[in-house]
Amino acid sequence: MHPHVEKILLNEQQIQERVKQLGQQITADYQGESILMVGILKGAMIFLADLVRNIEIPTFFDFMAVSSYGAGTVSSGVVRILKDLDKSVEGKHVIIVEDIVDTGLTLQYLLENMKSRGPASLKVCTLLDKPDRRKVDIPIDYNGFRIPDEFVVGYGLDFNERYRNLPYIAVLKPEIYKG
Ligand code: PRP
Repeated sequence: MHPHVEKILLNEQQIQERVKQLGQQITADYQGESILMVGILKGAMIFLADLVRNIEIPTFFDFMAVSSYGAGTVSSGVVRILKDLDKSVEGKHVIIVEDIVDTGLTLQYLLENMKSRGPASLKVCTLLDKPDRRKVDIPIDYNGFRIPDEFVVGYGLDFNERYRNLPYIAVLKPEIYKG
């Protein structure tokens, strides 16, 4: 275990099993179709990479990078697009892939933005859901795990850009994030 980690919330095996189930569910739901997975950088990249390898229908992917305006770790709801999609989503079956839904503000913006581009259908898949922190009601179609209101890192999630490469989801020791 990484020396900065206090406890592991979800280990590699738990994550891989759940990601496999999500892939099977998506495969079943979209039989006969093809899908476009839109990963939200940077957090979702590891989840997306594992998820698409468990999907057995034609799967395409594209990415967006967004950032909340203003300083701090709390999402403000005002979102700036840092990197937009490479191609049009018009007429495509789109699944937005997130690592975590916290306040829901980022996803609220992304859903509105994506809807205006005219996809054939639009769904949301997140690895983690932190319902205690929700500020806006967001439909989540595929959810890996519901987690308590703790600051988590690993499997794509960071603290000051660190720890994204940990293969598990963990809680840091308080002295690390409190300085
Ligand atoms: C995280 C996460 C979501 C958003 C969720 O991204 O990937 O996009 O915050 O928060 P919300 O529900 O409160 O809006 P972050 O801004 O940390 O960027 P990153 O993925 O590059 O780490």
